[in-house]
Amino acid sequence: MTTIRPLSETIGAEAIGYDLRTPLSPDQVEELNKALLDNLILVIRDQDLTAVQFRDGMAQFGEPMLQHREAFRLPECPDVSRIVNREKMRPAAMWHTDHTNHELPPKATILYARKLPSQGGDTCFANMYAGYQALSDEERAKLEGMVTINSMEKDNPTYSAQDRAEYDGGVRHPLIRTHPETGKKAVYFHLTKAQGIEGMPNEAVRPFLEDLLAKVVQPQWTYRHHWTLGDVVICDNRCALHRADPNYDQAQERLLWRVILRGDRPH
Ligand SMILES: [Fe+2]
Repeated sequence: MTTIRPLSETIGAEAIGYDLRTPLSPDQVEELNKALLDNLILVIRDQDLTAVQFRDGMAQFGEPMLQHREAFRLPECPDVSRIVNREKMRPAAMWHTDHTNHELPPKATILYARKLPSQGGDTCFANMYAGYQALSDEERAKLEGMVTINSMEKDNPTYSAQDRAEYDGGVRHPLIRTHPETGKKAVYFHLTKAQGIEGMPNEAVRPFLEDLLAKVVQPQWTYRHHWTLGDVVICDNRCALHRADPNYDQAQERLLWRVILRGDRPH
């Protein structure tokens, strides 16, 4: 028996009774995909997966792409990367969508909990269709033509010289994008990677984006995921922002595995 049910009225659903160790039926792939498109975040509960099973399970929803920190890729399955509060990696506490320094940023990020602190360590998600809808007509008109310029953060010690040589960025994306599957508009940016906006002085960019975040991220359309071991959480990066809540004991290890699925060029 499988069930899919919403986790809130505006964002998030959970899927129960699925087993990603074996291939899903075409109908199951379709229903999970639809649940993701409708709810932006999909939590697939109770999974017990090796890295290869995790990658293969997610490959039913798209093409896994290599992530830009080579040192954090799993040797046994490089399509899977570690997200951990160790080895100088800090919780990504600012709102963002992933890998915007890539020309073809991932359509989805999938996280799988491996080690959790005894309390906290949540991941928060915000619905950017709702964020867009919350803006006034004037604000939307102003934002429509804006283009962010995305690069790796200069002060992030987890990027090696090799990573930077391959993926440093300078990549341009629209601040408002149209979702290629739903046709709906969403606010789209990574707070710390969007280091420039075309036509705006660099020092004005961060305050401008922080102001925008205050408008487009509201509790009514935000979902806070309290992790349970075995959760696989899929985020549609084209219409949702996310952040890690660093509010936990950093002496305790928090380890997630991550797969990202290739997307198209935002437009
Ligand atoms: Fe992220």
